[in-house]
Amino acid sequence: MITQLVQSTPNMNIVAGTDVVGAPDDVCFPAFTTIRDCEVEADVMLCFLPPTAHDELLAVLDYAEKHRTPLILGTTAMSEDVLNAVDQTSKKVAILQSANMSLGINLLVNMIGKAAKLLYDSGFDTEIIEKHHNKKLDAPSGTAFLLADAINHALNDKMTIITDRSTHKHERASDEIGIQAIRAGSIIGEHSVIFAGQDEVIELKHSAASRDVFGMGALKAAAFIYKKPAGLYSMQDVINHA
Ligand SMILES: NC(=O)c1ccc[n+]([C@@H]2O[C@H](COP(=O)([O-])OP(=O)(O)OC[C@H]3O[C@@H](n4cnc5c(N)ncnc54)[C@H](O)[C@@H]3O)[C@@H](O)[C@H]2O)c1
Repeated sequence: MITQLVQSTPNMNIVAGTDVVGAPDDVCFPAFTTIRDCEVEADVMLCFLPPTAHDELLAVLDYAEKHRTPLILGTTAMSEDVLNAVDQTSKKVAILQSANMSLGINLLVNMIGKAAKLLYDSGFDTEIIEKHHNKKLDAPSGTAFLLADAINHALNDKMTIITDRSTHKHERASDEIGIQAIRAGSIIGEHSVIFAGQDEVIELKHSAASRDVFGMGALKAAAFIYKKPAGLYSMQDVINHA
């Protein structure tokens, strides 16, 4: 996806790629099975490894630090030690990390924080429902946590995120944000944030119809992070900069 999108983006060019299974025959850049074998210099690198590729993720961070190459990191559900390594590496080089690179989701992040502030005191409950294809490895999605964290942050971190009520035998508390995950078929990604009050419900929904939205956002992020000083950035920085 990224390869296709870069071809139609002025001022962008792929100089190398890495994937454990190699690259399709028709790509016109050098491809490596691990970043450890890559010494190509680039202005920016993008990483969408799965969270299970633990050692490769650490190697990507090593590369970013060693080459001082700003990094766009889209991997979700990273382990604690990889997240710590991201933090440490971002002191030396710019890293933009986001569980969801789409413009729509990141605008939604903005909107729900404001909505939550207005609605919580009026007794509204907040729930998130996410739906993804049956091949997705992690649940709930990183995006669902991104949305829940935005609401929690707007409410001074007083909320508790609940991902499983199967063992609960009590009423829902007002300081909960519930997340439900659906895995079925080929759904690219849907996220609904529900604010439910007495006799009224507000539902804000984002639907991704193709993976292009993540790719296009990742390229926007790449253009944003080029030549940025060391630090940890998010897609909110990209939106606020636009
Ligand atoms: N931030 C976003 O906008 C966004 C969007 C889509 C997916 N994601 C996240 O990106 C990650 C990957 O998702 P996906 O749907 O693209 O998965 P995918 O399975 O389609 O692609 C992952 C690729 O990584 C390669 N790979 C696996 N282990 C490797 C290793 N050890 N070394 C090198 N390459 C390796 C696989 O061969 C595969 O080509 C997930 O964490 C997903 O949640 C984030």
